[in-house]
Amino acid sequence: MKYSVCETKELKTGKMKAVTIERKSIVVIRSQNGKLYALRNVCPHKGPALSDGSLEGTCTGSEPGEYTLEKMGEILKCPWHNWEFDIKTGCSLFDPENVRVKTYSVTEEEGTVYVQVK
Ligand code: FES
Repeated sequence: MKYSVCETKELKTGKMKAVTIERKSIVVIRSQNGKLYALRNVCPHKGPALSDGSLEGTCTGSEPGEYTLEKMGEILKCPWHNWEFDIKTGCSLFDPENVRVKTYSVTEEEGTVYVQVK
C-alpha cells in the first residue's frame, strides 16, 4: 500500500525525515542528486533511529596512505556507534551481505512524496 508522507518541498536536497507507517519507523531521504530513498529507521545494532544520524560519504583506498572519498551524502551513519549504511541498498558497509536495513520504494507525484509499504 502506498502512503503519502510529506509534500515534495518539505524534503530538500541532502535532508531526511522520519515518518511512521503501519507502526514502522521509516526514514525518507533526498540525496544530493535529488533522488529519494526510504529505509527502516532502526539501526540493527542497538536500535536507535537512524534519522538521528548523519548523511555522509565514505573513504576507500587501495593501499596504505591512499584514500578516495566516495558516495558523498549517500551513507547514513548511525548516531550511536557510527555503523554506516548505503541509502541506495540499505546494506551496511562493513558486512553488506549480513547486516542491512530494509528499504522501501519511494515515489514523487504532483508535489507529494509517497512510500510503498507492503
Ligand atoms: S546502535 Fe547503531 S551502530 Fe550501534
